[in-house]
Amino acid sequence: MPLQFTFDHLFGGKNLSGNALVSIVSAGMSKFGRREGLYGRELFVEAASEAFERCPNLDPQKDIKAAFIGMMGESFEHQGHTGPTILDWIGLLPTQAFRTEGACGSSATAIRCGIFAVLSNLADVVLVGGVEKMTHRATADVTEYLAMACDFPFEQWNGLTFPGLFAMVATAHMHKYGTTEEQLASVAVKNHHHGCMNPKAHMQKEITLEKALSSRVVAWPLKLYDCSLITDGASCLILTKPELARKFTDTPVHIIGSGQASDTIGLYERRELTSLKVGKLAAKEAYRMAGLDSLDIDVAEVHDCFTIAEIVAYEDLGFCKQGEGGRFVEEGQSQIGGKVAVCTSGGLKSKGHPVGATGAAQAYEIFLQLTEQAGKRQVKGAEVGLTHNVGGLGATGVVNVYSRG
Ligand SMILES: CC(C)(COP(=O)(O)OP(=O)(O)OC[C@H]1O[C@@H](n2cnc3c(N)ncnc32)[C@H](O)[C@@H]1OP(=O)(O)O)[C@@H](O)C(=O)NCCC(=O)NCCS
Repeated sequence: MPLQFTFDHLFGGKNLSGNALVSIVSAGMSKFGRREGLYGRELFVEAASEAFERCPNLDPQKDIKAAFIGMMGESFEHQGHTGPTILDWIGLLPTQAFRTEGACGSSATAIRCGIFAVLSNLADVVLVGGVEKMTHRATADVTEYLAMACDFPFEQWNGLTFPGLFAMVATAHMHKYGTTEEQLASVAVKNHHHGCMNPKAHMQKEITLEKALSSRVVAWPLKLYDCSLITDGASCLILTKPELARKFTDTPVHIIGSGQASDTIGLYERRELTSLKVGKLAAKEAYRMAGLDSLDIDVAEVHDCFTIAEIVAYEDLGFCKQGEGGRFVEEGQSQIGGKVAVCTSGGLKSKGHPVGATGAAQAYEIFLQLTEQAGKRQVKGAEVGLTHNVGGLGATGVVNVYSRG
């Protein structure tokens, strides 16, 4: 039985492996950035090659029984039918392939589908991941393609785009809780600092609070450094049943809790602008399955598509009380060495946000952290990790909790 919800386990002496839904036995990620002259499928080859090389006991052709690939839109590369396209390029034909779509949460939903496949016993070993090639398009086009993940008749039609939508969340948060522009900028300063320690990050550049605050306004109060980057990249994981994990590696990472929820696509239909219901619900489910709570998390990758989104994530995940997210980051509680190290990879802000690849890239970072392969940004002694990936303005939300094997 792979599923054992034994809440009597002891943590720090507790056997978290007993709660494993699935195990990650390998992971790969392309360099994120402006990858001129390459197609998305070539970036996926980079990610898959790393995952295959990292796991010499895996025979990809023979062992992998299904693949789930997240990609947001056909428009970027004028290419659909992503599943077989990718599998052809990584040498996995004729394995069954599926594309998953959940806007910026597309590859987190691929991970969820992989979990379903393994737990159903229909596939022992699966590849899950995502890809997006964006930078060859003009910013105005990218903005329009991304906006397709918000409501058409009431939002897109009236000229709303994601910077504008998240700006409304930010102004509501400022109004209700007194959150400041400095606190928003603190998220950017932290994530740029973390990104400098990640050789695969799109932007490896320290910034100061003054620089972030004086950058040009994109949609007030959000400025250039409050926005995630338009990035090219791909990422993937190999998942299997916990009881098979040691056939492939001595250092698996287990997914011990997982939750996903949906909400209205339109922000205008929500009662609450200052938190994302999907984040709260998915976290509640993931913590319940894991038998843990927010205090147990050592390292987390959260969806910082705009700086306000990271502040909202702290609150929705229970890292701090509602309304205190601004202070939490300002006090340094979310930096490496703080209460919980958040976005050690540099996050979407500095590592970059190739939308379809983001969810699996977050899991890649947690895999590195929990297997002590995160180099200069390693969180010492990290035992439990979390990923929080959101699609659109929280119409999709996925939270996973991970433990060392
Ligand atoms: C913020 C944004 C509009 C800037 O795009 P732009 O105005 O076309 O900027 P450019 O590409 O011309 O870049 C100008 C400079 O700013 C830098 N830059 C671009 N975006 C940046 C960002 N988000 N953060 C920091 N620097 C950024 C570039 O590297 C470049 O620097 P350089 O002059 O030293 O080379 C764009 O990055 C954006 O739309 N981000 C959000 C993406 C998004 O919505 N994702 C989905 C979230 S739900």
